[in-house]
Amino acid sequence: MVLAMPNMIDIQWPDGQSAALSTLWLRDNCPCSDCRVTQTQEKRFHIASVPLDYSPDLTEVDAEQLVIRWPEGHESRYPREFLMGCAQPIKQDWQPWREDFLPQYVDYSGFLSDDRTAMKAIQAFLKDGVIVIKNAPQVVNTLEGLASRLGPVRELLFERIHNVQVDPKGYNVAHTNLPLPPHNDFASYSWPPSVQALHMLVNEAEGGRSTLLDGWAALDAFRSQFPEEFATLCRVTVPFREFDDNNETFTTAPMIQLDPSGNVALFRYSNQLMQPLNPLSADTADFYHAYHVLSQQLFDTPFQCRFRLDGGQIIVAASHRVLHGREAIETAGKRHLQDAYFEHDNVRNLLTVLKRKNG
Ligand SMILES: [Fe+2]
Ligand SMILES: [Zn+2]
Repeated sequence: MVLAMPNMIDIQWPDGQSAALSTLWLRDNCPCSDCRVTQTQEKRFHIASVPLDYSPDLTEVDAEQLVIRWPEGHESRYPREFLMGCAQPIKQDWQPWREDFLPQYVDYSGFLSDDRTAMKAIQAFLKDGVIVIKNAPQVVNTLEGLASRLGPVRELLFERIHNVQVDPKGYNVAHTNLPLPPHNDFASYSWPPSVQALHMLVNEAEGGRSTLLDGWAALDAFRSQFPEEFATLCRVTVPFREFDDNNETFTTAPMIQLDPSGNVALFRYSNQLMQPLNPLSADTADFYHAYHVLSQQLFDTPFQCRFRLDGGQIIVAASHRVLHGREAIETAGKRHLQDAYFEHDNVRNLLTVLKRKNG
């Protein structure tokens, strides 16, 4: 039985299952070769070419497909499998850390040369938001080599490959031996880098253990306990700045950004880069209340881990989710870390391409 409704088409499959489908969606997604660019599989049909109150002349359903004839005589055939596939929710691929979480380790040469090893590592990265690559060369700019797997380096101001060592002229607290509270880098960009690689070239200093924190898991816990404070941190914008004599980066953004489904998409948290808010604004008092509650929770959150990053090890972190930091450096042994940035879309691309290539 087929009953045409304005803007919707109600169908019933022969097995009794029914569905209401948007008329314009159906016209827009006709899979035929006239409506697609066959060479590229892109859409060729354009929605503006039909009227808003468009409706079919004829609709037929059998076990396998829905067939629609449109007023201009065009016929569309939609396999049931195609319609069902488009109705599947997009699965989230991340999982919050457990209390005893430690990142998975993967061998550097295996990651670069063996597709199966790389696929497993990227799956762990998408799930956990972090992996550690071990046995990497202790040579400067080794991070450039990761571009064959992680996609092109996301270049930012200051340095293409950033050097982090104790430096009295350094522009960031990371260049001192002070402890670094959990943060993500470049909160001062409107789109901060979404993947960060931290390569320890040499670590002969005592102390300075690395800390990692699952920001999204911590925010989910914070949200269920303090929904109003969570909403405040989604609403009130905060200025962030990172600069030196030659560079100036600045943006204002809320600490928590949600995707259109309401899931946390970007956590921007950097004590060192945050700038004064307007002290006269009522929003500022609200913000500080929420920011204080969150920051205290982050100190004690179960969603964190700490470990020593040795020379030849590289942390790769999904930096819109995972915050990094370090404990204070206790002795002045040589310690040299390099940072480079990549983009999460490109890392996901690697997994898709490798799956395709390896069946
Ligand atoms: Fe950092
Ligand atoms: Zn068509």
